[in-house]
This record gives sequence, structure tokens and C-alpha cells, in this order.
Amino acid sequence: MAGLIPQNFIDDLLARVDIVDVIDARTTLKKTGKNYSGLCPFHNEKTPSFSVEPDKQFYYCFGCGAGGNAIGFVMNYENLDFPEAIENIAAQMGIDVPREESSVSQQTREKNQTLYDILEQCVRFYQSQLRRHPDRTHAVDYLKSRGLSGEIARDFALGYAPPGWNNLLDALGKDESSKKALLNAGMLIENPDNKQHPLYDRFRDRIIYPIRDNRGRVIAFGGRVMGDDKPKYLNSPETPVFHKGEELYGLYEARKNMRKLERILIVEGYMDVIALAQNDIHYCVATLGTATSTSHLRRLFKLVPEVVFCFDGDKAGREAAWRALEQVLPLMEDGRTARFLFLPEGEDPDSQVRRIGNSEFVRNLSEATQLAEFFFESLGKKVDMNSLEGRASLGKMSLPLIQKIPSGIYHQLILDQLGSITGVDPQTLGNMEKSLEKTADRGAARGATREASRDDGRGMGSTPPPALESVPVSNQPPGRKKQSGRSACMRAVNLILLKPDIVNELDEAGEIAELVSPDSDLLLEVIALAKKHPSSSTPELLGRIYATPLGSQLTQLLNREQITPAEGVTQEFNEIITHLLDSQRRRKSHHGWLEEARQKVHSRQNRLNQEQNPPGES
Ligand code: UTP
Ligand code: MN
Repeated sequence: MAGLIPQNFIDDLLARVDIVDVIDARTTLKKTGKNYSGLCPFHNEKTPSFSVEPDKQFYYCFGCGAGGNAIGFVMNYENLDFPEAIENIAAQMGIDVPREESSVSQQTREKNQTLYDILEQCVRFYQSQLRRHPDRTHAVDYLKSRGLSGEIARDFALGYAPPGWNNLLDALGKDESSKKALLNAGMLIENPDNKQHPLYDRFRDRIIYPIRDNRGRVIAFGGRVMGDDKPKYLNSPETPVFHKGEELYGLYEARKNMRKLERILIVEGYMDVIALAQNDIHYCVATLGTATSTSHLRRLFKLVPEVVFCFDGDKAGREAAWRALEQVLPLMEDGRTARFLFLPEGEDPDSQVRRIGNSEFVRNLSEATQLAEFFFESLGKKVDMNSLEGRASLGKMSLPLIQKIPSGIYHQLILDQLGSITGVDPQTLGNMEKSLEKTADRGAARGATREASRDDGRGMGSTPPPALESVPVSNQPPGRKKQSGRSACMRAVNLILLKPDIVNELDEAGEIAELVSPDSDLLLEVIALAKKHPSSSTPELLGRIYATPLGSQLTQLLNREQITPAEGVTQEFNEIITHLLDSQRRRKSHHGWLEEARQKVHSRQNRLNQEQNPPGES
């Protein structure tokens, strides 16, 4: 990982960049009075509700609630993380981004860079072998027999590792240091017992599939035999740059091919992704033989609102689909879709698309089973739906799973559907679900909330984690959406961002420091930051926060919050803080949470002390 970007550089960049230039370079803006407006690039609309305020260096959309500063805009629009967005803006302005790093992280980075460099050379070597090696026809014929064109082979940078023990070693391992790099990158195997070849090529006589990371850097390879030898596929081992369980093969290629991805199809193998691309379906990724995890899915939902899982229609396939369903439930916020495409037995996406072609495959895809349908159908098979007992046990099995779905409309719809299947009034089901919640371990429930807020759901209508207390918002100005159910702390954070000096009167070491409530961590950090830099403007404060681990939580906030007109800010902020403290006092007297709060204050103070004297800050 590259080193940290110095805070003063970020401050400087934000002071010099004009958000209007940044946004105007990407989407059309029109001057309307002192502000600019246009069609919102983050949701579909016909009349402009997207507004850019040069004074505040801030953008927001009255339609979908997206909002933020120049960096936030670039992060959302280009799907970049914070440092990448800084690089992007700086490049637009023709400035180099400095990096400060500890010597340890610098060493790691240099080591990893050596691996990326050597892996890039390996790709070129294997590609050139596919074009020039005397035995190349063997490989080319194999690829042709699998229906692939030269163009697709080039798009996926397919290559050929010729037969022999040391083709790659001879070509790239010219000195000790490059041999070491090849070994560390997993490209060579060392075996001192093998007298003839103590060091030899991992991939021999195979078709080579490079695996790229998010940024397009080659991090590993898969290699397939052309005959029936075993193992069919050989993969790079775990290395400092390759962690097999986390990668999604084809994701970089999909993003490169389609600027605006709308859905992603998750398949199992290299050849599935490539054959689908060959048939003009460019939105597929493969998990490389491992099960799809929640972290895979979290990454995908940052890019698209819809994922489709593809499985064999047989028993094993349905069981794997059920495991995928369990992984996706906690991510099913409103606006997201998950579906299941079941293939006929014995087919995989590669064979299927080659047999039926693009249009029929796409039609099947658009008719793929909805999550809810698969959910109730699978559970329904386990019970006798004609008996009272059967329907009761369906209810009993469903509720703990439905509980995993974030609260929102989708959650309610599934509950309604359970109601109509079992004949139990959905209101009653909802109450049963709540009582499950109460009996469940409180610690576990809190963990789940934290999990949900780590997911930054950029660009999607993400729903806040269930709020224990929500602010009843009165006299809403026109054009502002109702805030019911939203965490009060998040609301307060939003207000501080709009008007950082509203914290001036607040005693952050006082009663407020004891707050134990959803998102209070973020609120207290933001208060501390705003207090530490009393004359910060909104963009400066944003810049500071984006640079901390809270950055992604903040992006999430800005995506779902409507911006409050400046006049109401102070009043609303004071109301929220009063409300938070009131309910805290009430709760304390009820639940004796005092001890927990005390502990929290201690750990927070320790953290703040550390932050105030970070190593190396003047
Ligand atoms: P499959 O056995 O379904 O292979 O494994 P496939 O993708 O259909 O391959 P073709 O069509 O025969 O070429 C699915 C995935 O599991 C991993 C690979 O990532 C493969 O794409 N796998 C499979 C291995 O890593 N090693 C193996 O020996 C087999
Ligand atoms: Mn296959």
C-alpha cells in the first residue's frame, strides 16, 4: 500500500481545486444564479435536482441525497477510494501527490512493487509465447476449440506457458534479485532435492489466465492443462499481493469494458467469465472455486445494485445457492437485488452460453429466481405447508433469517410475504421478530450494527443501521425527505459538516463524551476534529475526516443524508444533542449502562490523547 498523503497537501488541494471544474469535467452543469445545477449523475432523473455550490465547495442532490466535496464526488463518480481520488484530482490539476510513510510501510511497498513489476513481465512473457513459440498452435487450437477469438484472448491477456522446466526462469530470472522476485511472486518452485531442477517454473505446458486486482495490476495466475491431466487448474500460491479468497476474477476487466455496470453475474470459473465475455456478456466475475463471501458481495454492491448468482440446478448447486443466500441477507438494503440463475444439470455458464447464445442467456438471466422466491421455496420444501404445524415451523425457521435483512421496505415486504404464506398477520410476525431480537445476545446485535455501518454502500440507496433512537423531525423545509428512523448521531454529524462552528459551545469532555448510541463513535470523533481545528470550513473538515478511517462511513452518510438549509442548522443540532442526552439519561436510570459508558469514555480519551500527540507531528 502506498504511504499516507500528508494532511497539509489535502488541505492545500481542497483550497486550490474548484469543485465546479471537477464536476463540470464529468457531467454537464449549468449556472443558475450563484450556484450550478444539472442532472444528477448518481441516480436517473429527467429534471435537474443536482446542485453545486461554489461558495461552500459542496455538491448535493435533492433527489437522491448524494452530497459531498470534490474528493467525495470523484470517489463516488469514478468508484475510487480516497487516495485514488486525490491522485485523480491532482492529476487533473497537473500536480504530483507526495507520500509520507513509515520506513516499514515504505519497505513493504517497495517489496510489493517488485512483485507487481515481475508479474507484469510474466504476463508479457506468456502472451509472447502464445504468439511466437514454435508449439504455439497447440495452445491456439485449444483456445479456438473453446470458442475464443483473438480479441477476447487479448482482453483477458491470455497466454501460454510452453512445456519445459525453465522457460520463464531463463527469460526473466537473469540475476539473483529477479530470481528471488519470481520466487516470492509464486512463479517459481524451489526444491533442493530435485538435483536436476532445484528451481523451476510453476506453470508448464498450460494456458495462462492472469488475475488482476481492482486497479488492473496482475497479482497471480491460473494455468489450465490442455488435455486431461490433473490438476486441471493450477493457481498461484498465496503471496504478499495475492489472497485467493478475496479476489474476484474478471472484475477489473468488467469495469474496464463497461463504464456503468448495472448488475454483476457471479460464476465459478475462469472459462465461464471469458466465454460469457466472448458472447458479449461483460459483467461477470468468478470466485475462483471458493464460496462467495459477504466481503466479496460487499465489494460488488459498491459497484452495482444487483447481483445474480449462477449455480448448477442439481442438489449441490442448490445447497451452494442457499449458502450464498445466507451471505447476502445482511446486505439486502432497500434498492439492492439478489437473484439466482439455476442452470440445467451438467451445464456451466460457459457451455450454456455457447449452446443457447447471448439473447437466450440474457433472457434467462432477466428471469432468474428472486431471492424471496428461492428463500420461501427452499424452506417450504422442508415442511408440510398444508398443516398448521408445517406453517408454524416455516415461520420459526424464517424469522431468524429475515432478521438478518437490514430494516427497511424490503425487510417489511419479506415479512408480509411470510404473513401471507403462513396466514399470520405481519404485524404479529414483526412483534415476534422483535422479541427474538430482545432475547438475542445484545453484544451480537451490536456487532451486526457495526458491520452494517462499515459497508459504505456508495452510490446505492443504503439504509442506515436500525436506530435505537431516531429524531422526530418537525417542520421539514420543502424538498427535504423525512428523516424518520435515521440515527440521531448521523444527523448531528451531517450538521457539523455543514457548519463546523456549531460545536463551539459544546463541552466535548462533558456529559456528551458518555454517549452510547448508534454511531456515537463517529459523532464524537467529528466533534473532536471540529473542536481541534476551530476555524475549519466545511471542505477542510471533510478533507480531514476523509483522511481518517471514518472516511468511508462519512461517504455513506453523505450519500443518504439530505442537506439541511443553513438557517436551520444550529437549531436542529442543539435539538438533536438535547434529545440524545435526554434519552441517554433516561436509559441510564433504566438500564444501568453507566459502567459501559464510563469504559467507553476511558478508551476514547486514550485514543484522543494518542491522536493529539501522534508520532512525528509538529
Ligand atoms: P471447474 O472444474 O468447474 O472448471 O472449476 P471450469 O471453470 O468449468 O473449467 P473448464 O471449463 O473445464 O476449463 C471451477 C473453478 O475452480 C477452480 C478454478 O478457478 C476453476 O475455474 N479450480 C478448479 C481450481 O482452482 N483447480 C482445479 O483443479 C479445478
Ligand atoms: Mn467449464
